[in-house]
Amino acid sequence: MTLPVAGAPIGVFDSGMGGLTVLAALRSRMPGEDFLYLGDTARLPYGTKSGDTVARYALQAAEALVARGIKALVVACNTASSVALPALRARFPGLPVIGVVDPGAEAAVRATRTGHIAVIATEGTVRGGAYQVAIERLMPGAQVRSAACQVFVALAEEGWTEGPVADAAAESYLRPLLAWSAGEAASADVLVLGCTHFPRLIGPISRVAGPGVRIVDSAATTAAAALAQLEQAARLCGRSGGGSTRFLATDGTQRFVRVGSGFLGAAIAPADVELIDL
Ligand code: DGL
Repeated sequence: MTLPVAGAPIGVFDSGMGGLTVLAALRSRMPGEDFLYLGDTARLPYGTKSGDTVARYALQAAEALVARGIKALVVACNTASSVALPALRARFPGLPVIGVVDPGAEAAVRATRTGHIAVIATEGTVRGGAYQVAIERLMPGAQVRSAACQVFVALAEEGWTEGPVADAAAESYLRPLLAWSAGEAASADVLVLGCTHFPRLIGPISRVAGPGVRIVDSAATTAAAALAQLEQAARLCGRSGGGSTRFLATDGTQRFVRVGSGFLGAAIAPADVELIDL
């Protein structure tokens, strides 16, 4: 395939709005670049679905972005990153494809002092063990425990990021996970947010985790990885600011504007969101 020119946008996708937390980091790292974000909101959640289904959805989302002329693809979804990267790279040879699991593992390994790392993610990501593999590759001997926290996805999409429901969910998911190493010589000192929706619940999560646990996510390290790959492929646009972002959603553009702005940390203009079918 012929790769589009350096002035083309960078494609980013997620099952819904979670990837907007990664897009925020990408925009701040590469303010001159244009971005095209696709949220597959009609088929969210990906985290409860089989690996085969998620890989199929990821290929369809990527097809839609590639058809619009992207120059690189950021899979801003841990669930899709853990099952679909080989298929995406095989389908689009020459297109830089950046996932979020390896950058998240890198952030965790950089942050831990004890080598005991707790990971929270969707059911699918935990089932596939992608973080375990990625962390142990970087840090052989690391102790990794994971917990699926699927309800966090619904809470984040609903905007219920603070309050009694979010607090109760954080308590019941995190207490048992963080208690795992309490009796051991070293306890978990890092908690990885292995789902791009989870940074929205940073309040309840950090209150339960307490001050001794560093919370990391993959947004900043993914942005650094994307910058490095684009630099290597000589595909950076060369501008230092003024980049634009357009959005595609597979359902409810009004809801995307309303809820998505919270995830992105910036207003999304209704005129910048297009409804598409995959
Ligand atoms: N935001 C996604 C992730 O990082 C998936 C959430 C979902 O659709 O279940 O895994």
